[in-house]
Amino acid sequence: MSPQAFRQLMRMHPAAANIVATGKAPNRTGMTVSAFMSLGVEPPTVVCAINRSALSYAHMSDNQVFSVNTLATHHVQLALLFAGQGALFGDERFDRELWDEFDSGSPCLRDAVMSLECRLIRQVEESSHSLMIGEVISGRCNERAAPLLYRDGQWVTTCEDLSPASAARSTAQNGAAVQA
Ligand SMILES: Cc1cc2nc3c(=O)[nH]c(=O)nc-3n(C[C@H](O)[C@H](O)[C@H](O)COP(=O)(O)O)c2cc1C
Repeated sequence: MSPQAFRQLMRMHPAAANIVATGKAPNRTGMTVSAFMSLGVEPPTVVCAINRSALSYAHMSDNQVFSVNTLATHHVQLALLFAGQGALFGDERFDRELWDEFDSGSPCLRDAVMSLECRLIRQVEESSHSLMIGEVISGRCNERAAPLLYRDGQWVTTCEDLSPASAARSTAQNGAAVQA
């Protein structure tokens, strides 16, 4: 398959937007990453695919710790900033108001949907990217925040519950609303 055809197919794949970050001020680096997933639970591990040309790549390797911060719908500008679109680099991308830090020193986005503190346990190189495998040391979450997703070049979200129980609840609520 041609790279163009592959890219076109992958545009249809919805993915949550995250900021993967590492380092302590004034040496923090971070980047927007959609290639992230959980790997296993015993021990808790995650993996993200990082382009080796990204500034954060060498810093993650050197620091041996990193964080993953899953973005919420109000973080579109932050996602663009950490994708290099604000012409700010390294520590300049971190606004003091928005960022806290984990015990290991890795940056933690205060109002992220979810943040994980990870210890790098393995790196696997494949073509332009490296799979960075991390053991999760700790985490935080904001259960009410709606996740920011990227699909077909658009920022979207999903928080609609399609399970049968929820559908029944919403039908009942709609019915009540009609009767009222
Ligand atoms: C929605 C979105 C998802 C991205 N996902 C990844 C990813 O999974 N891995 C990656 O290496 N770069 C990804 N990028 C590109 C990096 O965010 C971008 O190259 C960034 O500028 C790299 O950081 P640097 O400028 O500090 O080198 C993504 C960009 C966007 C907008």
